[in-house]
Amino acid sequence: MENMSLNEIRESFLKFFESKDHLRMESFPLVPKNDNSLLLINAGMAPLKPYFTGLQTPPSKRVTTCQKCIRTGDIDNVGKTSRHGTFFEMLGNFSFGDYFKEEIIPWAWEYITEVLQIPKEKLYVTIYHEDDEAFEIWSRTTDVDPKRIFRLGKEDNFWEVGVGPGPCGPCSEIHYDRKSELGTITNEADFVKAGEEDRVVEFWNLVFTQFDKDDNGNYIRFKNPNIDTGMGLERIATIMQGVNSIFEVDTIRAILDEVCSIAKVTYGKDRKTDISIRVITDHVRSTTFLISDGVLPSNEGRGYVLRRILRRAARHGRLLGIKNIFLHELCDKVIENSKGAYPELEEKRDYIKKVIKLEEERFTETIDSGMDILKSYIEELESKGEKTLSGEKAFKLYDTYGFPLELTQEIVEEKGLNIDIEGFNAEMDNQRKTARAARGDSSYMGSDDGVLNKIPLEVETEFKGYETLNCEGKVLVLIEGNNFVKALDKGQKGIVLTDKTPFYAEMGGQIGDSGLVLSENFKANVYNCKKNISGKILHFVEVVEGTLKENDIVTLEVDKTKRENICKNHTATHMLHEALKEVLGEHVNQAGSYVDDDRLRFDFTHFAALSEEEITRVENILNREIMKVYNVYTNVMSIDEAKSSGAVALFDDKYKEDVRVVSVGDYSKELCGGTHVNNSGEIGLFKILSETGVAAGIRRIEAITGEKSVKYVEDKNIFLKEISAVLKCGEKDILNKLSSVVATLKEKEKEIQGLKEKLTSGVEDELLNSAKEIKGVKAVTGIVKDVEGDALRNLGDKLRDRLGEGVVVLGSTANGKVQFVAMASKEAVSKGVHCGKIIKEVATVAGGGGGGRPDMAQAGGKLPEKLKEAMDKASLIIETLVK
Ligand code: ALA
Repeated sequence: MENMSLNEIRESFLKFFESKDHLRMESFPLVPKNDNSLLLINAGMAPLKPYFTGLQTPPSKRVTTCQKCIRTGDIDNVGKTSRHGTFFEMLGNFSFGDYFKEEIIPWAWEYITEVLQIPKEKLYVTIYHEDDEAFEIWSRTTDVDPKRIFRLGKEDNFWEVGVGPGPCGPCSEIHYDRKSELGTITNEADFVKAGEEDRVVEFWNLVFTQFDKDDNGNYIRFKNPNIDTGMGLERIATIMQGVNSIFEVDTIRAILDEVCSIAKVTYGKDRKTDISIRVITDHVRSTTFLISDGVLPSNEGRGYVLRRILRRAARHGRLLGIKNIFLHELCDKVIENSKGAYPELEEKRDYIKKVIKLEEERFTETIDSGMDILKSYIEELESKGEKTLSGEKAFKLYDTYGFPLELTQEIVEEKGLNIDIEGFNAEMDNQRKTARAARGDSSYMGSDDGVLNKIPLEVETEFKGYETLNCEGKVLVLIEGNNFVKALDKGQKGIVLTDKTPFYAEMGGQIGDSGLVLSENFKANVYNCKKNISGKILHFVEVVEGTLKENDIVTLEVDKTKRENICKNHTATHMLHEALKEVLGEHVNQAGSYVDDDRLRFDFTHFAALSEEEITRVENILNREIMKVYNVYTNVMSIDEAKSSGAVALFDDKYKEDVRVVSVGDYSKELCGGTHVNNSGEIGLFKILSETGVAAGIRRIEAITGEKSVKYVEDKNIFLKEISAVLKCGEKDILNKLSSVVATLKEKEKEIQGLKEKLTSGVEDELLNSAKEIKGVKAVTGIVKDVEGDALRNLGDKLRDRLGEGVVVLGSTANGKVQFVAMASKEAVSKGVHCGKIIKEVATVAGGGGGGRPDMAQAGGKLPEKLKEAMDKASLIIETLVK
């Protein structure tokens, strides 16, 4: 048994199964397609489910892959042990109704004992306790010692994806004995114990996939059983490299060493330090791969998984004393070690690093203040002897400081505390209610177990919609509700499948066509067209005349105007992609698009909002290119030809067979299955309506074309005309006229201000002239109109200053309310005047209240009609106060 690197083991496995006539397929992206039951791919078989269940035809009946996987169920243990990780690769070989136990068992043995050359005295095999057939095949076709085959129960040797639906069956596992020098294990009980003590580790699971479990938990036997095997690549690498921990495996150790060198710490010296080192090492791998497969940090679904992992790693960086952001640099090590098998990592290096950096920076801005706050929460709990952090506080950390709940949980748990999760969820629900509901993205119908999944595979529809907008077709299948039916009557809604159709089914961001299905005495509106998961074209219809029956010959007619508008928007989307690259740079990549007959929406990777000038440039370039009246043509070619012709391939698409390349003259060339104009000139005018951000590093442009944008310009024109009518000037003079109106308004405002001041100074003089002496104290008491708030206080101030010594009491009415203010000089106060007391009594008369200091007080009242009575009282009160 030779020491092999992780990359060598991967290659040797795939090569071995190629030699057994398997098709080697690249790893599928971590993001499942059309599978609502799964957040992230977690096993080699997960992306292949439709091949097992027969919903799709596999490219070969024998397939082998090394699949990127993420499992976060055990994330709390990652770091704490040397075994747990969130990211791993799974080697697997699969038979879709082809070979079964008789073949896989000897092959597995051959691979392990002859290719990897693992000594037989270190190997054990387990089988499902009832599976005599497996025992017989193991004993007959291999030279494993039958005493080393143990029978275990359903828990160990029956494989299924959790409680959910999917292919499953009994399995046989192969185990490695790390301590064979302790002697041979001779019975099941000792074997199980050795597993618990980590002496024996399972490294390859051969699943005899003979059942399809449905949504109700029923096990339905497949006509032809399948094979699904899974070998954790990191785990087999620990065995081949003679190490005890996945963190010691060559490619992972390289990352771990880099963490130590950045943090200037040594691995293996201190338990706490080791935990942080391992957390970062594992999490930077998941982060890098998730981003390369198009996941972006967010607060929902997989985006949240990514955010949580990335922020957990960032926090452990802080614990190691790393002050600056560092994860984006560290991901270079991941790329270096894995780019051979995953070239997309190298292709997207800049992009991945930018996304990580942005998220790190975002979290760094709040992490310190968040940590301080959390510390104060913890101290408060400890001082009160309480154990539970309230949901509200945990939510505040989440919402304001970007602390994922699980991160806060981890930190408080380190102190022996917990969180009121229900309270947190309640806060979250509240916020979600107000937030936009997450949009279901799938364009496929029937990813559940309904009738749409039961459409026979033989039903084929030929798509004619690239060449024509109407054709004849034969009705093959009719569906009403959740049932197949023989006929659809007037007034009924249903689904129609035909042998030919010109209708485009929603796909690749382009909406489905609408139109009509007709025959001599039958008519139905087609209001949508989509595909089911196995690619069947479904016409959604509502019957308006007659009855439609199976086998009828009908005319299918696509709504021409709508289709034409969709085509304009779709071709414009391709050209926009190109123009954005020209203006912003090569990093711009499509991250999503939506095209209907109204408008187009294009999401792309870019890190800042576009300036007005950039938007104008994009628009100008596009209109310039549109006017070059390019012919649009399509070619079908192999993926390699497409790549070498420079076609732009979409972000995470997987093309196995020939692809369709759409070219707009020599300006744009993209892989695309959609429908397009014949000539760029048909697009007419291109107008951008908005440019916004949708997620970190993703921008969105919404735009219009054709008659829509002509109408848009027309509307603006009408608007201008209306403005010029109001301003009474020609369009050319609008700006001048408006500027002069604004300037005049400003002047007038100044004038009004001056007049107001003059007015109050007249009032001031009048009030001063009315001053009287009360027991030797000069007093001004009076009523003013339409002066309130600050202005009233200022007036009081001025009067007191001009009075020199004495007291001023003013009452005012403004906007139906009453206000009072009183101001007194030091001397007046020393003689006994107390503004607070004066105001209190005066305001009471006017239905209000208030008070204040001896030298200044203010109050309000509700009864303007009592103002005079109140003010009359002022002099009396002063008199009683003065000694
Ligand atoms: N699907 C099996 C597993 O994940 C091979 O273990």
